[in-house]
Amino acid sequence: MVRFSAPGKVFLFGEHAVVYGKKAVACAIDLRTTVEITRSGKGIHIQSAFKDDPDKNQYIKTAIKKFQVRHDVSDINIKVTSQIPVASGLGSSAAVTVATIAALNEEYQAGMTRDEIAFMGYQTELEVQGAASPTDTFVSTMGGTVIVPDKRKLPPITCGVVVGHTGISKSTSRMVSRVRTLKGKYPEVIDGIMDCIGNMSARGEALVLKNDYKSIGELMNVNQGLLDAIGVNIPELSLQIHAARSHGAYGAKITGAGGGGCMVAICDPSRCKDIANAIGRSFGDSFITKPTAEGVRRE
Ligand code: MEV
Repeated sequence: MVRFSAPGKVFLFGEHAVVYGKKAVACAIDLRTTVEITRSGKGIHIQSAFKDDPDKNQYIKTAIKKFQVRHDVSDINIKVTSQIPVASGLGSSAAVTVATIAALNEEYQAGMTRDEIAFMGYQTELEVQGAASPTDTFVSTMGGTVIVPDKRKLPPITCGVVVGHTGISKSTSRMVSRVRTLKGKYPEVIDGIMDCIGNMSARGEALVLKNDYKSIGELMNVNQGLLDAIGVNIPELSLQIHAARSHGAYGAKITGAGGGGCMVAICDPSRCKDIANAIGRSFGDSFITKPTAEGVRRE
């Protein structure tokens, strides 16, 4: 039996723009999905914590299909448990994909490197979703703070991190395709916004290296304005974002595709509780989380 877990993530900067090759900055967070593989029975059986989300099994099945190019897979049970809310923008699909590939790699002694696991994870997301950047699978594999598409890993951020969850489910591929349509219609406007988000990520990377969380927060607020401009904000996320800002967050924005899902606020660690309470009072749920340096790992 082998058991591997992989973390979820938040975007500090760059969702949507990263789909067009612009820079993004994402941090792994301390919520994990665990995949256990045992050899037994006949055929491949999946027992998933994501019972209400059949899409997730598609990630597991596609990951197995990709892995089968390297090694035959048969007669296994796969058991998935997860702390990451689904369809929330916190990277639950990437985490289950990466943990599945890493567990298969170990079970069959396939000798894949972390880079290869991240790449196969990306290929899996791409096939299931039709559109994906390598961000979620890369950060879930490597942990820490990552810069994509450069694929650099920095240490985790050390400020407080609070997540607001609207509980409104969204489809990443639908949001990506909506932005693509807008970009196709007004390229002279939207291309500039994507460039600007990419520039913010570049500046964000330098600020992460300096632990300048006040400035990171300031730029996250600007990034939020541009996410609103490309049509991925909803009023419920705005309520949470403004609640966080007015209770002392350095910055707050959507994390992930938007249209529902989650927002993220960064703050001085002493402010986390107040901010989480304020978000919860404004709409939906909230929780305090911690950045983590650990990507996919054996349990
Ligand atoms: C989804 O978590 C973030 C998007 O940028 C899509 C992607 O990067 O694959 C919207």
